[in-house]
Amino acid sequence: MTRSSIWGTGRSLPERVITNADMEKLVDTSDEWITTRTGIKERRQAAPNQSTSTLSIDASRRALEMAGLHAKDLDLIICSTISPDQPLPSTAAFIQRGLGASACCSFDLAAACSGFLFGLTVADQFIKTGQARHVLVVGTELLSRYLDYNDRATCVIFGDGSAAGVLGPAREPAGILAAEMHTEGAFADHLFIPAGGAARPASCETVREGGHYIKMRGNELFKVAVRSLEEVSRRVLEKAGVTTDQIDLFIPHQANQRITDAVRERLDVPEEKVYSNIARVGNTSSASIPICLDECVRSGRVKKGDLILMAAFGAGVTWGGVLMRW
Ligand code: COA
Repeated sequence: MTRSSIWGTGRSLPERVITNADMEKLVDTSDEWITTRTGIKERRQAAPNQSTSTLSIDASRRALEMAGLHAKDLDLIICSTISPDQPLPSTAAFIQRGLGASACCSFDLAAACSGFLFGLTVADQFIKTGQARHVLVVGTELLSRYLDYNDRATCVIFGDGSAAGVLGPAREPAGILAAEMHTEGAFADHLFIPAGGAARPASCETVREGGHYIKMRGNELFKVAVRSLEEVSRRVLEKAGVTTDQIDLFIPHQANQRITDAVRERLDVPEEKVYSNIARVGNTSSASIPICLDECVRSGRVKKGDLILMAAFGAGVTWGGVLMRW
């Protein structure tokens, strides 16, 4: 079976920057608290005329350009998002329409912050089995539209952004070497939006209660996050027969700098090999890992042949890892 590799990446971030000082004007918080507890200094917020799909289309065009492909070459689009344009149809359908990717199938994937890695894993399977040749995987969120700007526990953490990767049959030496996906629904109420779905449809009451906003049990999540990121990282490395000292770059999901530091220490990866942009963009959920990857690729931090470990966890709870050679 032919391995897959990422041929191109792209990202799109809204221009508007929301600093911790801006947050201080909204809720009872401080730059000192946010910085020491999370590592975040600022995050991006989409303009009213932007949507999850418009940011995604921008990011996807850049990824296609780097890959040297046209939208019409795509066989499949997988869009990971928990902040879709609308409940129906999928955001992937809007991305497909916007790109003019007429020859392909597209669907959304809901695995929150692990979604981009789940998407890579699904794309890899399609390419390996010959069901698809060129797959676009998008990780994209407009979480600002789902945040309660009265809830200091969540509104300081999340940000907006979009990034994409275009996969095709591996161009040696590149390729996805190992991947893992996991879900533990027992922790489904650690991070959730209680209303607006079929179980509790939108009503005046749900809107009054703020039931359409993200709710989070941060302390519980923190423990699951550190454990699952370490575990899944070890599993993909073991699967590929690689040791931590062979990794050139570790890209963990950007949830909290303290989580990243704890995982890095447990895995014994040197600090200079761990990528972090949380100070600049906050937690962008599905978009977090692909934004990091695109920054690394375009800045030259990643070189041909480098071994890259990516690991994420998120609502569900879900967690996953991908080891690839660039
Ligand atoms: N500003 C100031 N104080 C805040 C605050 C804010 N933005 N948010 C919470 N606090 C307060 C709490 O109310 C609490 O006050 P109390 O002691 O008077 O009750 C205190 O800070 C400590 O809260 P706690 O939740 O224990 O803080 P923490 O050190 O665990 O940090 C998180 C909170 C959310 C930053 C941290 O738990 C975390 O990052 N968890 C993981 C979340 C995550 O990764 N989510 C995304 C999953 S993809």
